[in-house]
Amino acid sequence: MTNGSRQLHLNLFILASGHHEAAWRHPASTPERMFEPEFYGDLARTAEAAAFDAVFLADIPKLDDNIAFNAAGLLDPLVTLATIAMATERIGLIATAWTTYTHPWALARSLASLDHLSRGRAAWNIVTTDSAAAARNFGLDANPDTATRYQRAEEYVDAVLRLWDSWADDPIQLDRTTGRYVDPSRIHQPGVRTKHVQVAGALTTPQPPQGYPVLVQAGSSNHGRAFAATYAEAIFTAQQHIEDAQAFYTDVKTQATAFGRRPEHLKILPGLSPIIGGTEEEALRLQTELNELTVPAFGLIQLKDFAYVDLDHLDLDERVPEEAFAGAGNVTDNNKAAPRCTPTSSVARSRPCASCCTSWPARADTRCSRARPSRSPTTCSTGSRTEPPTAST
Ligand SMILES: Cc1cc2nc3c(=O)[nH]c(=O)nc-3n(C[C@H](O)[C@H](O)[C@H](O)COP(=O)(O)O)c2cc1C
Repeated sequence: MTNGSRQLHLNLFILASGHHEAAWRHPASTPERMFEPEFYGDLARTAEAAAFDAVFLADIPKLDDNIAFNAAGLLDPLVTLATIAMATERIGLIATAWTTYTHPWALARSLASLDHLSRGRAAWNIVTTDSAAAARNFGLDANPDTATRYQRAEEYVDAVLRLWDSWADDPIQLDRTTGRYVDPSRIHQPGVRTKHVQVAGALTTPQPPQGYPVLVQAGSSNHGRAFAATYAEAIFTAQQHIEDAQAFYTDVKTQATAFGRRPEHLKILPGLSPIIGGTEEEALRLQTELNELTVPAFGLIQLKDFAYVDLDHLDLDERVPEEAFAGAGNVTDNNKAAPRCTPTSSVARSRPCASCCTSWPARADTRCSRARPSRSPTTCSTGSRTEPPTAST
């Protein structure tokens, strides 16, 4: 869609079970296909036919705490996108990958391979990840703090960019007569030794067709926004209020400009979670059907996980006391010590416990600073999920 020189970019954020917490239970959904290759190819071809720019796959390196009630099994995004690449022709392929728990050499090669095998359609959604459970999956007792994670992320991305450049343009000679395959003087050893990242030698993979895959970022803390303003060509973000979204937009564009970049080179991809019907009445009916399929226990676990609000001791029909939100604050930086939701109205006093964990979509009376794509800020008040497709401005 264009308006003068501006163009709207649309991405399909594929969460196989659906973005509503109960979507997988709806009779029209097909959770039994979640691990079939054709499922992803079909979705991506539909998005491609609708002129979407890209498909996007999130990735969390730990099992969902709510797996009992949630069809939240995840396939590896890079492997899945390789199958999507074979099923499509033009659509972009955005893979989420964590800088805290992977090594740059291995990831640079995987992304370069995807870029080759898709003929230049790969993109990397750079995330640092902030889960203690994830840390334990990779041999650490705790997740490094935000500043440390983003320092490693900067060093990591610099190393990956050098690795993608380790093969210069056209080093392959392929001279059958002389037996010379490549000009080794055109392959460089990155030799990176920084605080968090050490990489000696070149990739085994020639330079990606795009030069380097598109850099996307998701993470909204102060560190995350500065990082995005430095490196990202697009930012995926989940905002609950128009004022917050505008402030976010202004902040990252201003920072990008201060770093000497053109602000229009940094696209913002806000998550939207539409419920679509042939008519408004049909869409509302679908919304009601989905909401009626929610399981209160799911919402209670989500509240604990993301808002640090434990309502286990309350009966579902009991009023929620304001004290339940005692430790919550409205934070701009993500920090485990500073919970992320503030009841900004009398909701905490006046709403029954059950309504805190089953309503959907988001209500405007709880304010959250951030969320992951598969666990939206709305989980703080409603236990819902976010938000395909994403659109950029
Ligand atoms: C919109 C959004 C999407 C995210 N997606 C992922 C994801 O797919 N996988 C992941 O491990 N972390 C994801 N994260 C978490 C970030 O990687 C990051 O660890 C976390 O948000 C803390 O960084 P921040 O303080 O900059 O927000 C996401 C965060 C946001 C805000």
